[in-house]
Amino acid sequence: MSNDNAAWDRYQYLKSEIRRHDTLYYAFDQPEISDEAYDLLYHQLVKIEQDHPEWITKDSPTQRVSGSALEKFSPLPHLTPMLSLENVFNWEEMQNYLDRIQKQLGSNALPAFIGEPKLDGLSIELIYVNGILAGASTRGDGLIGEDVTQNIRTIKSIPLTVQESANRNHITLPASFRVRGEVIMLKRDFSQLNRERDKNKEPLFANPRNAAAGSLRQLDSRITAQRPLSAYFYFMVNYEPLAFDTQESILRTLSLLGFPVNPLIRLLHSPTELASYYQTMQEYREACPYEMDGIVLKINDTHHWQTLGNTSKAPRWAIAWKFKANVATTLLRSISIQVGRTGILTPIAELDPVNIGGVRVSRASLHNEDEIMKKDIRIGDTVFIQRAGDVIPYINGVDKTKRLSTSESFHFPAVCPVCHTKTVRLPDEAFVRCINSNCPARIEESLRHFASKQAMDIEGLGEKIIHKLFLQNKLQTIADIFRLTAAQLLSLEGFQQQSTDNLLRSIEKSKHNDLWRVLHGLGIEGVGEVTSKSLAKYFGSMQAIQEAKRDELLSVPNIGDKTAQSLIDYFENPVNQALLRDLADIGINLFLNNTLSQDFRPMSGLQIVITGTLSCFSRDEATEIIEKLGGRVSSSVSSMTSFVLAGENPGSKYTKAKNLGIPIITENEWLKRYQIK
Ligand code: IVH
Repeated sequence: MSNDNAAWDRYQYLKSEIRRHDTLYYAFDQPEISDEAYDLLYHQLVKIEQDHPEWITKDSPTQRVSGSALEKFSPLPHLTPMLSLENVFNWEEMQNYLDRIQKQLGSNALPAFIGEPKLDGLSIELIYVNGILAGASTRGDGLIGEDVTQNIRTIKSIPLTVQESANRNHITLPASFRVRGEVIMLKRDFSQLNRERDKNKEPLFANPRNAAAGSLRQLDSRITAQRPLSAYFYFMVNYEPLAFDTQESILRTLSLLGFPVNPLIRLLHSPTELASYYQTMQEYREACPYEMDGIVLKINDTHHWQTLGNTSKAPRWAIAWKFKANVATTLLRSISIQVGRTGILTPIAELDPVNIGGVRVSRASLHNEDEIMKKDIRIGDTVFIQRAGDVIPYINGVDKTKRLSTSESFHFPAVCPVCHTKTVRLPDEAFVRCINSNCPARIEESLRHFASKQAMDIEGLGEKIIHKLFLQNKLQTIADIFRLTAAQLLSLEGFQQQSTDNLLRSIEKSKHNDLWRVLHGLGIEGVGEVTSKSLAKYFGSMQAIQEAKRDELLSVPNIGDKTAQSLIDYFENPVNQALLRDLADIGINLFLNNTLSQDFRPMSGLQIVITGTLSCFSRDEATEIIEKLGGRVSSSVSSMTSFVLAGENPGSKYTKAKNLGIPIITENEWLKRYQIK
C-alpha cells in the first residue's frame, strides 16, 4: 500500500471515529474516551489535512468555523411553515384543551401525549441533503428564515453528517430532510459569558435566550464558535418516504441519527400523568442547567396530527403549558454595597420582598456602577426583577411610568463602606475596588471562599460561623482555621459537643485535600477551579507553582498573560509567602494526590502497541502504566491503533505502523506527553 493510500484510510477512520465520539459525547452524554484522547485523534486529523488539503470536505470535523464574515444573512425559506404553539397557563385551561381535542377526535379516550420541556431558546431548522448538513435557518416570520448555516456549523453537538449513524442503525435516509429544534445556552455558560463581557466592558445579555440569539445571529462565525451554544431537536419535517407513526419514533430516529434529544421527554397516558409531568418539570426548573419556560405536550400518534390539522398559527395537536413567570415588579428601597474578597464593590438592590415563581426575593445584584447608570435605576423606583435558576436575581429594568419625583440617583461611594479606604476604579475595569488588603470585609470573604464547597469544602464552616469567629478575632488568616480549638467553638452560641466535634473533624479531613482545592482556596485573581486543576496537574506541588517562571506558567492550559501575572504577584508578596509556610507547617497537603489522578485517565480510549526495548521500563511495567492511565495495550498494529510506542531496535510493527500512517512516538515523547514520572 502506498503511503498516500494508508494516510487516506487513516483519514477516513479518524473522521468517522471523531464523529462517533462527538455523538457519544453530545447526543448521548456517554463519552467513551477522555478529552485528552479525543484531542489526540483530532490533532492527527488536522495533521493529515495539513499534508493533504485537497482531501478536506465540508463534513470534516475540522471544518466547523468559516474563515470570513458575512455582510448580511440571506433569506432561506421553510418548505413547511414553522408554526408557533398555543399557550395555556393553568390546569383549567389545560382541561379545556383536552376536552376540545377529544371532541375533535370524536373518541371517548384521550390519546397519549409526549411531554417535552419547553426550552427557552430560539428555534432552528436544519436541512440535510444526502445526509450532509446543507443549510440552517432561524424561524424568521415562519415562512422565511435567515440563513445561519455558517454559525450552526460551529455548534459541536450538531452533526455535520448523519450518514454513518444512519448506516449503523439501518435507517434509510431520504435524499433530503429537515429537522427542527431549539438552540440554547446553558445558565452556567450564560453567567460566565456575561462575567467576561462585564470585564471587557461589553454590554451584558439580559438572559440566556438573548445570549443564544445574539450569538447565533453573528455575521462572523468565528465569534459564534467561541460562544457556548447547545441544541436539542424535537421534530422532523419533509422526510418522505420515511414514515413515522408516533412522535416517539421521530424522537428515537433523531437520537439514532446523532441529534441531541432532551432526556427529560416522557410518554404520558392520562390527565393525571400530564399534571404530574408539569409539576415535576416545574420543580426541576430551578436546578435545570438550561432555561425552560413550560412544557410542550404533543399527541403521540401522528395520524391524529392529520385529523386535527393546524390553525394559521399553531398545530392543534400540540400545546404549550407555561410555567408561572419568573419576573415581578417591586420597590427598590435602597442600594447597599458588598465588598468581595478581591476588593470589588458590588451594588446590591434592597427590595420590598416579592415572590417570584415560588421564591421570596429581597435582594438583587446590580452588577456595577455603569449598569446602574445605563439602566437609569434610582432609589425609590419600581423595578422589574428577573430570576433564573441558580443565577442571582437581577434587575431587568425600571417601570418608568411609576417613577416618583422623590426617586433618588445613586452615587457610588468614594470610600470602602467597611474600612473607609479610598476606592479606585482602574481605567480598563468596570468595577470599583477597595485596595486595602487588610480590609475586614475582604478578609472575611476570603475565609468564606477558602472554606466553601468549591474550594476546601469544609463542612459546617459556613458564612455565619465564620462571621462570629472573625468578630471575636479567632480567625484572621485562613491558617487560623486549622488552629481552632474545641473550647473556642464551644463558646460560640448554639455550638454543642456534637457540632464542635463534627466541625473539627471536617477541618482535619480537609488537610488531606488535593492541591487544587488549596490553590483555589487562596483566592488568587483569575485562578478558579479549572485553572487550579490545570496548575496542580501540571506542576504537582505548591512549591513548583510558586517557583514557576512566567514562561512555564504560560505553557499550562487555561493560563494567559493576566493570570500568569496575577500568580507571580501573589507569590511575590511576603505576606502570602508567610501564609503558605504556615499552611505547610500545619500539615496541609500541598501536593497533587490521588483524587485528581483517579479521574485523570488521559490515555482512556487509546489503543497502544509497544515495539522495541524501552529504556526506563520493562514491557510489563509500561503496560501497567498505560492501563493505569486508562489505555489498552494490544500486540498488533491495525488501523484502530492510536499510536505505536517505539523503544530501541523496534521490530516489524514499526514498519507496519509507518505504512499505515499510524503515529509513532518515542519513549521520551510518551513520558513527556502523559507526564509520567
Ligand atoms: S414544537 C409546530 N417543542 O416554542 C410545533 N417547540 O412557542 C412547534 N419550543 O417556536 C414547535 N421547546 O421555538 C416545540 N419541545 C418543544 C419546544 C418548542 C421550545 C419553542 C419553539 C417554538 C416556540 C413556540
